[in-house]
Amino acid sequence: MWLRIFGMGVGLCCSMLAHADDAMLQLAQENACMTCHAIDHTVIGPSFKAVAARYRKTPNAADYLTQRLQHGSVGDWGQVSMPPNVQASPQELHLLAQWVLTH
Ligand code: HEC
Repeated sequence: MWLRIFGMGVGLCCSMLAHADDAMLQLAQENACMTCHAIDHTVIGPSFKAVAARYRKTPNAADYLTQRLQHGSVGDWGQVSMPPNVQASPQELHLLAQWVLTH
């Protein structure tokens, strides 16, 4: 449904972009990402700003992170691992990975 919001946002600039961002945050909340992550500080997992900064120069970072989300991630940021996020579809995970990288 937010895909439609995003489509409508083309040409409407900033207020619609803010809505798209809200929709992404909601998707992240629905998939429990925000129980372990926050935008700008470490919770159990790294902040999304830290992740975006780390992968800013990595080619295909969104594809890489989608894999990490699908299969789980361990050892990159510390001792705690991220379990595979099996409840979300690969498409949703790809969108979430792209969104994380915008921070
Ligand atoms: C149970 C807690 C938990 C949940 C739920 C969780 N994460 Fe994580 N996440 C972590 C931890 C811990 C790490 C660090 C893992 C490591 O060191 O490799 C991490 C790492 C990451 C990374 C960086 C991966 C890398 O390879 O550098 C991204 C991006 C990320 N999470 C996004 C998400 C998104 C999006 C969701 C929701 C679909 C999510 N996480 C759900 C705990 C969680």
